[in-house]
Amino acid sequence: MQAALALCRFAHFLSAMIAFGASAYVSLLAPIALRRPLWRSSRSLVLAAALVALVSAAFWVAMESAEMAGEWSGAWDPDTVEGVLFDTAFGRVWQVRLLLCAILIGAVAVRSETLRGPRTGLAALVLASLGLTGHAVMQTGAIGALHRGADALHLLCAGAWIGGLPPFALCLRACASGELRGEAVTAMRRYSRYGHFFVGFVIVSGMTNVALTIGGPPFPLSSPYRALLATKMAIVASLAALALLNRYVIVARWGLSATALRALQTTSVIEIALGAVIVALVSVFGLLDPA
Ligand code: HEM
Repeated sequence: MQAALALCRFAHFLSAMIAFGASAYVSLLAPIALRRPLWRSSRSLVLAAALVALVSAAFWVAMESAEMAGEWSGAWDPDTVEGVLFDTAFGRVWQVRLLLCAILIGAVAVRSETLRGPRTGLAALVLASLGLTGHAVMQTGAIGALHRGADALHLLCAGAWIGGLPPFALCLRACASGELRGEAVTAMRRYSRYGHFFVGFVIVSGMTNVALTIGGPPFPLSSPYRALLATKMAIVASLAALALLNRYVIVARWGLSATALRALQTTSVIEIALGAVIVALVSVFGLLDPA
């Protein structure tokens, strides 16, 4: 059951991060002339992500119900599911989140420029509201509010970073084909510039999460939670190093030549893969006792 729940968490975290990061990239970083063609290329990915977010959120409730019942049949037992949804703090938050996921699907499915802002806002709410569940609700009062706020910021910055990589890769392609090259370069430069803030804040909010969950750095590695968290931090460090290599070595040395574009296409695929590994790790250790 724990493995199934971890799988739901993985699908939900990653899809919510892609839905937010990709729509924010198009609506906030892309120059006006690039927005419509970039959204046309990203829309099916964001729609798929929004659909996966809703389905995985529904399965997450079923898995929580099975856990509560202590047997698989609890996943589809109406009384147990109702108990989870209406009699637990998680369930009350989840009702709102399920509704937000459904509205997000509508906002992505409807082809309308006027929905660009609301779409990104909705995707941000779907992602950040995860901060109202899990270990982030271990404390109450001011400390509790700080923990939930740090977790919401953590998710939004991680989403902007990892979820922004697919439209970044699309801009690399536009650059190589010469179509809207100037606008694509502007969008990539903005992603790189704001990327410094995403990375900085994901690390600061992550360290806040660490301090408020286990009281300090995860050493010694005396529990599975600490070992997986330390592994996550090491992979984040290599991901940040790759982002710095992109910005201060590849682009600095080769500009946006054909060689640089090929290298950036390779490193952005590696970044997406490392991002997925990080989310997989937290999907597992977020279920463990933070001892
Ligand atoms: C690309 C970088 C990162 C990504 C994609 C990422 C992703 C995530 C996600 C999806 C969660 C789950 C939040 C939840 O359950 O509400 C999370 C939680 C967490 N993250 Fe990160 N994170 C990143 C970087 C970091 C860094 C650098 C640190 C440490 C300095 C960190 C420490 C934590 C901790 C302690 C939690 C709470 C886990 C728990 O539920 O106990 N993360 N992160």
